[in-house]
Amino acid sequence: MSTAKKEYKRITTKSLVEMKKNGEKISMLTAYDYTMAKIVDGAGIDVILVGDSASNVMAGHETTLPITLDQMIYHASSVVRAINRSLVVVDLPFGSYQSDPKEALRSAIRIMKESGAHAVKMEGGKEIKESIKRILHAGIPVMGHLGLTPQSIYKFGTYTVRAKDKDEAAQLKDDAKMLEKAGCFGIVLEKIPAALAKEVAESVSIPVIGIGAGNGVDGQVLVLHDLLGMTHEFNPRFLRRYMNLYEDMTAAIKQYSDDVKAVGFPNESEMY
Ligand code: KIV
Repeated sequence: MSTAKKEYKRITTKSLVEMKKNGEKISMLTAYDYTMAKIVDGAGIDVILVGDSASNVMAGHETTLPITLDQMIYHASSVVRAINRSLVVVDLPFGSYQSDPKEALRSAIRIMKESGAHAVKMEGGKEIKESIKRILHAGIPVMGHLGLTPQSIYKFGTYTVRAKDKDEAAQLKDDAKMLEKAGCFGIVLEKIPAALAKEVAESVSIPVIGIGAGNGVDGQVLVLHDLLGMTHEFNPRFLRRYMNLYEDMTAAIKQYSDDVKAVGFPNESEMY
């Protein structure tokens, strides 16, 4: 039997389901701007998430709640202009889909039309089922998001691990089944016990992508700025930093400042 990995010129929602079937893990990362998205796409990441974590990472808000639909569309269209291969999924921001299915559909249509992205992601289970169905009926692919759902942080009160008790775990399993049945092409599971995440991934045919959900799922997602070590005050156990850019960038910028002050920059070869 050949173990060769199938090459995908462009990742679609169908490719992701196929990857799960073939046992190929899916890589997903956030990006919010053109320059970073070009690097992420070029590095071969399967899915780029224009996450509402832009609210924290790009705008400096404490939570994801303040970011607006217009701001998400701005970030998403910058990302879409950069990509050749990755599938681009955009978070529907808080307040753009919770009130009723018609509003949810209008918000999803704006994202698709104005940014050129390929799919939307929504946080929640049975409470947003009708909105999810409405968006799917319009032909817009939807990714679910269960477990720790940061848009509900004021309901939870903390960012600790979710679904540790039986009732919440049972509800999460039901919600995952509901998302699959409704027609979602994938589910993000955030910060839940690894054993529960594995059980969910094995119980549905659509890809389950984890963040703080162990390695028994079909793929992983991280926030790009965390992976690169640009953020340094956020240290959850699930985060692996592949670089320490906060320190490297600070050193480079300090060096530039010192050079300017010492008239060491520009030198002869850097002048006209
Ligand atoms: O907004 C985001 O970055 C996310 C990921 C943490 C999954 O939803």
